Amino acid sequence: GKAGHDHYMHKEIHEQPNALRQAISGRIDELAGNASLDIDLDDRFLQAIDEIHIVACGTSYHAGLYAKELLEELVDITVRVDLASEYEVCDGHDTRRTLVVAVTQSGETADTLSAIRRAKAPGMTTLAVTNTVGSTITREVDDSLFIKAGPEIGVAATKTFVSQVTALALFATYLGRLRGTLTAGEGVDILGNIRQLPNAVQSVLDSESRIRRLADQYTGSDAFFFIGRGPAYPVALESALKLKEISYAHAEGFAAGELKHGPLALVTENTPVLAFLNQSASPEETLNNVKEVESRGAPVICLSTPGETASFCNHTIEIPDIGRLEPLVANVALQLFAYHVAHEMGRPIDKPRNLAKSVTVE
Ligand code: F6R
Repeated sequence: GKAGHDHYMHKEIHEQPNALRQAISGRIDELAGNASLDIDLDDRFLQAIDEIHIVACGTSYHAGLYAKELLEELVDITVRVDLASEYEVCDGHDTRRTLVVAVTQSGETADTLSAIRRAKAPGMTTLAVTNTVGSTITREVDDSLFIKAGPEIGVAATKTFVSQVTALALFATYLGRLRGTLTAGEGVDILGNIRQLPNAVQSVLDSESRIRRLADQYTGSDAFFFIGRGPAYPVALESALKLKEISYAHAEGFAAGELKHGPLALVTENTPVLAFLNQSASPEETLNNVKEVESRGAPVICLSTPGETASFCNHTIEIPDIGRLEPLVANVALQLFAYHVAHEMGRPIDKPRNLAKSVTVE
């Protein structure tokens, strides 16, 4: 049941600290500064790969984009992220030195299964990052990494997103240590950030009443824009997807630097802009983008580390600074924002119109 919550989505948002503890449990080797993952892919193969292709849809695609940031930084490897429905393998590609990673909560998404089949045809090695033991994808890939988020019933993916990124952060740490791009000390560092996640997410959940007031204040706006850079860019896309699917409001996410290349034309006094000022990706530059929207009269809600409050922000939601994972925590604040906008509008939050929990047609 919903255990006292009005919706499964609300329950699942609040389950995130525990989902994270499950995703992390037993997977951190503090002494070695390494992740210990229950995967069977051969270490020699993982040392030899020179490319990773990530394929996924929707929220899982956003998790893949976040993982690309982590993999490029920690493993120093070329990563390509494709929407599963758009994934094509070029002729002549060195298929023996590529790992294809399918990110799928359900393990049943037709587009993702079909992308995996296209990868397998020329002989590429495949890994599924999934929540569902025994799902179709786990029977088709070479290996699976389980995110252990527990069942997710609300159509909107919430806790599985944070758990996907966390599992992929552990995987990136493992690869970095294996390939020598990450020292034990750097491993301890990133694992420390991962360990802080459950409490950091809890601190955002504890500020729900404030986030709810902001949602109430801006419900009915013409549109909502989300901007971020680095790992906050996929979170901007994800926050916009969450808001549009459950509230039916017009919402879009942009890379902060792209605003001035077109979307700025949409900004008015009635389009709140939610901006991520994460420390890990030049918050000063994002602040310049915030100024651009503020001077056009848009209300600005900033998500930033305590103490970094800027005068152009009309409101600030404080997010604990946990390095490259800060945007993952900020995402939780915007899940609550989306939830309360949709609630205020009386939407059927757990079953939005036209959507299904798992999409089994291409
Ligand atoms: C959005 C959402 C969808 C799914 C997408 C992929 O809240 O839930 O965008 O993320 O349909 O589903 P999985 O991860 O099961 O492959």
